[in-house]
Amino acid sequence: MKKIITGFSKLTKEEKIKWISESFFSDPSKAKLDLIKYWNSDPEVQEIHDEFIENTLSNFYMPFGVAPNFIIDGESYTLPMAIEESSVVAAASKSAKYWSKRGGFHTKIINVEKTGHIHFLYDGKKNEIKKFFKNYKKQLIESCDDISLKMKKRGGGILSMDLIDKTLDLKNYFQISVCFDTINAMGANFINSCLEKTAETLKDVFLKSSLSKKYELEIIMSIMSNYVPNCLVKSWVSCPLEDLNENDGINGREFAEKFITAVNISKADTSRAVTHNKGIMNGIDSIVLSTGNDFRAVESSIHAYASKSGKYQGLTNAFIKNGIFTIDLTIPISIGTVGGLTILHPLVKWSLELLKNPNSKRLMSIICVSGLAQNFAAVRSLITSGIQKGHMKMHLLNILNQLNATKKQKSEALLFFKDHKVNFGNVEKFLNK
Ligand code: MEV
Repeated sequence: MKKIITGFSKLTKEEKIKWISESFFSDPSKAKLDLIKYWNSDPEVQEIHDEFIENTLSNFYMPFGVAPNFIIDGESYTLPMAIEESSVVAAASKSAKYWSKRGGFHTKIINVEKTGHIHFLYDGKKNEIKKFFKNYKKQLIESCDDISLKMKKRGGGILSMDLIDKTLDLKNYFQISVCFDTINAMGANFINSCLEKTAETLKDVFLKSSLSKKYELEIIMSIMSNYVPNCLVKSWVSCPLEDLNENDGINGREFAEKFITAVNISKADTSRAVTHNKGIMNGIDSIVLSTGNDFRAVESSIHAYASKSGKYQGLTNAFIKNGIFTIDLTIPISIGTVGGLTILHPLVKWSLELLKNPNSKRLMSIICVSGLAQNFAAVRSLITSGIQKGHMKMHLLNILNQLNATKKQKSEALLFFKDHKVNFGNVEKFLNK
């Protein structure tokens, strides 16, 4: 039976829950209670969360942990991480501690430009639209002055505007490409507002110009790009080979060479590259999320960057130079430390304070470091003990909870599995004993 409802968004929260529970669940009262159980006990806090999106029914919990001991550009940090995967925070902490004894993490902001485009079709002579754009460019930029006022005061705004001929990719397709500096804001609303205003002005001036008597210009859309290859940050760690000697009995050079080969495999093989980068994203997403930033935007930009050579590749580099082992990571990332959820979500505010209220450049660096730390931890395990040993240890509690273990059984299991292999079957056997 099809369950279709009109006017759902206009119902009260209670009415929505009633309809959902009764329409889709075998035990409507339990379904209802499961949602209500996760409401915040303070109605004012709950209201803030309810108003983030439409049709909010409850809150969806994610573990929120921290990874201490990060030294980044000489300063110490504890990173906030919102993530459900059992071993990620432990891996970050392990990596942080390891590198804290080897000079810490280093970072560099390479650039902070973001872009947006007005995509349009134009069926006339190319030299005429180029001349038209040259004549009206100043007016197009100035039409955004009202919107840009505050951003300009903070030192940002529109940096440049160019006409791009895309007709080789698609018939009659042109873009006006606009570059922005949005300072500490992610800037999506600012950029999109400027683009829509510019598009309006473009349409107006075109219609008033002699070109409109001969040709057509059709605006298709105006939107920021989440691909930010000119908003780049790099992080790296390095140390002499002899300082790598703590790695499961292999000497420093052997460890470094095996590590470099593992990284090179991620450049040579797409299947491995995806998993290699997934490990990097474990670190990146968990901070992006806990600082109230848009992880979908960050993910899509970083994966596009991983394909910039025409082939999807691992994002880290590893090499030895003059007896020094280095791993680095460069990512394009657009995030903000003001606006959006940063002032509304209590735990986002908390996370930013934990990070010493960074500006967006600092947060770019911290996020990049988190990705690099995860990659180091993952590849280090992969080329030495294997990933499952650490991963399953961290996963043990999840298995115990799935099997409804009691508190006593859990503490006994944690002891027992210190020196026994963790897998679902073994944990089940242990509980049955
Ligand atoms: C698991 O979440 C991430 C890893 O698979 C990353 C990697 O293989 O590099 C361990």
